[in-house]
Amino acid sequence: MKFTIKHENPGTVKSGCVILGVFERRKLSDAASRFDRTTRGLLSKLLKDGEMDGKAGQTLLVHYPRGAKCERALLVGCGKTKDFNASAYRKAVASAAQVANSCGASEAISFLAELDVSDCDSYHKVRAQAEASQGALYTPDELKSKKSRPARQLRRLAINVAADDQQTAQQALADGEAIADGVEMARTLGNLPGNICTPTYLATQARELGKSSKQLKVSVMDTAGMKKLGMGALLSVAIGSDEPAKLITLEYSGGQTGDKPVVLVGKGVTFDSGGISIKPSAAMDEMKYDMCGAASVLGTIKACVAMGLPINVVGVIPATENLPGGRASKPGDIVTSMSGQSIEVLNTDAEGRLILCDALTYSDRFNPGVVVDIATLTGACVIALGSHAAGLLSNNDALAEDLLAAGKTAGDRAWHLPLWDNYQPQLDSNFADMANIGGREAGTITAACFLSRFTKKYRWAHLDIAGVAWKGGKEKGATGRPVSLLTQFLINRCSDR
Ligand code: BES
Ligand code: MN
Ligand code: ZN
Repeated sequence: MKFTIKHENPGTVKSGCVILGVFERRKLSDAASRFDRTTRGLLSKLLKDGEMDGKAGQTLLVHYPRGAKCERALLVGCGKTKDFNASAYRKAVASAAQVANSCGASEAISFLAELDVSDCDSYHKVRAQAEASQGALYTPDELKSKKSRPARQLRRLAINVAADDQQTAQQALADGEAIADGVEMARTLGNLPGNICTPTYLATQARELGKSSKQLKVSVMDTAGMKKLGMGALLSVAIGSDEPAKLITLEYSGGQTGDKPVVLVGKGVTFDSGGISIKPSAAMDEMKYDMCGAASVLGTIKACVAMGLPINVVGVIPATENLPGGRASKPGDIVTSMSGQSIEVLNTDAEGRLILCDALTYSDRFNPGVVVDIATLTGACVIALGSHAAGLLSNNDALAEDLLAAGKTAGDRAWHLPLWDNYQPQLDSNFADMANIGGREAGTITAACFLSRFTKKYRWAHLDIAGVAWKGGKEKGATGRPVSLLTQFLINRCSDR
């Protein structure tokens, strides 16, 4: 989708589709009122006739509105004025994009970014317009032989803004497109099946991304390199699979040399069968999404590159499958991590923390300002928070606050859970320094407690995205979360922007 910024009159602009907001009950937005005057009361009449009353989610397509210069007007229900916040705005934008995409127009102009949104300035309205429209039109059909796309799709969307907002809007649009592309990359990778999206495939994608900018350096370590570094925990997961594991590193240098980087560590289990502690077969296909943390790191770095953020960022992705096999790890096996700490693998399905702990130890060599890991780590997090918020745990409250704030701004929320020492004894083992599981209680917290034993040297936060990274059911597919949160977090850390 190609976006532009415009400043036009809704009644006289030539367009395939003019997109206008209507509030409950039958309240025309400013732009819609202007359009109504040009068309001598056409919209008011339609509303009076009961065609629509402005409820959130409603849309009404009007063809060849008399007196106007456009082919169609698309009225979008925005709900009650007082409830029209950033989240309602994004929903309105998304449903507008869907209807506009299938109405036959190849180009449209939206006046939605001019609406009053309670918790949103014009920068965020324009940015969210780009993000939400592109997100709404994404369809994971690369692997379908027949695409079910409309005959004529929407190719260009103009976003109308007031004359004095033009400059902010251009910046907002550039950021919005960068973030939308980052989110889309994460969704595409997440949706690919395990037989295509292998650790090697992720490494290739990272290398491809590396070619897009001189500021981005990508390197890939194979299992021999990991052995040399003593990454016994990571390797113990990889050993049951014939697909070779990879440790992918992406170094983005947009900041000054010497600026401490933000290190993002993404769980890249390209398929999690559970290993010898095998999962039940119902919905096991969804474990192809177990690399969504890795995908979010790639998507976020892609967005950083596109925005040219003046900051240093390192992505670290431990990538492997988790499969049962003749050489696979067995419950009770004891392995030694790169940190030197030994781990009793009581459940081979708690593999995420095993690959992350070595990646976290490795991350220290980048002299990080902060480290954030992102992982589809625990089913317990899905039970605790559902699909609305990612779980957030940290050894530094200020860092946690920054991530929470970024998630709020970006509409990609997280929720802070405690990382109290009281939970640590659940990981006690009679035979090793720790066990890799902590029992039934507080599974998300004990998983983070496990990771905290490898992150003592720096400020660190953990995002458990098991509930937010993909949707099940009819709308099954990767969401691209938390690319928006992470990107916002990085934007906020750029003081001179
Ligand atoms: N990838 C899963 C976590 C997961 C489960 C994400 C369901 C989304 C939905 C992870 O590797 C895992 O299997 N975790 C176990 C840990 C347990 C054995 C302590 C879990 O949550 O059941
Ligand atoms: Mn698992
Ligand atoms: Zn897993």
